[in-house]
This record gives sequence, structure tokens and C-alpha cells, in this order.
Amino acid sequence: MPALMILNGPNLNLLGTREPEQYGYETLADVEVMCREAANTHGYEIDFRQSNHEGVLVDAIHEARELMLQGELAGIVFNPGAYTHTSVALHDAIKGTEVPVIEVHISNVHAREAFRHHSYISPAATGIVIGMGVYGYVLGIHGLVAKLKS
Ligand code: DQA
Repeated sequence: MPALMILNGPNLNLLGTREPEQYGYETLADVEVMCREAANTHGYEIDFRQSNHEGVLVDAIHEARELMLQGELAGIVFNPGAYTHTSVALHDAIKGTEVPVIEVHISNVHAREAFRHHSYISPAATGIVIGMGVYGYVLGIHGLVAKLKS
């Protein structure tokens, strides 16, 4: 069964206790369960990852390309966390690998501080889900699968 990579950036390991008014009470382990269920309905496994380090996230996107070339991976659902607003390297990794990426944000970043309004990821993303809580990951998976079929 091919996989979808679910990639999480910095501080998302703290989900459940981190600013619950923004991000809710579900943990990253809860998100992993939701993602596995959603992906399985479409016949995909998940490759679920989190890192607090930009270079590790860049490497994961490069690895996704290799897995895609081997027919083992179909795309990425990516919450880049704060690197959304700072990382040219992640933008370039997505552009350079041409892996389909759905960008997900749990909170509505446009209703928050001005520094969260700009994303380096969005111009390189295939689609974007913002402000739907952790259910955004599930929407991202359904959206990615629909895009892959279209
Ligand atoms: C986030 C929004 C970012 O601005 C923030 O830095 C995060 C989480 C979200 O899921 O809403 O870490 O990506």
C-alpha cells in the first residue's frame, strides 16, 4: 500500500497542552490516529513525522521525493508550524522535489498576529487548509487524494 507522509514542524509535539485555545486539546498522537483512519479509507498507509528542526524537515521532503519515485509515497500533508512564516528552504524543497504538498494550519493564521499572515509554503503548495482545527489534517488527506485522482 502506498503512503501519504504527514509532516509536522516545530512545537507540534506539544499539541494537547500548547495554547489549547488556539490548537485544542487533541495530542499529536490523536492526530496520528485520525490521519491513519482517513488515509486508510482511501487505501493509503501513513508515514507520520514531527521535527523541531528545519533541516530535518527539508530532508523529509527530499526523502518523500525518493519514495515517490519508487512508487511508495503519493504526497505530503504538511503543517510547517512557525517555519511557515520564515523558511525559504522549505519553499525551495517543495518546489525542487515537485512532491504534492497540502499545507495545513490548525488555527486561522489570518485571524492572528500579522507575522502569521505570510506563508513561504503556500506558493509552493498544491492546496491549503487553514483554521479547521486538527480536523484540517483529515481534510488535507481527503483533498490530497482528490487532487491525485484529478
Ligand atoms: C500553526 C500556525 C503557526 O503560525 C504556528 O507557528 C504553529 C502552528 C497552526 O497549525 O495553526 O506552530 O502552523
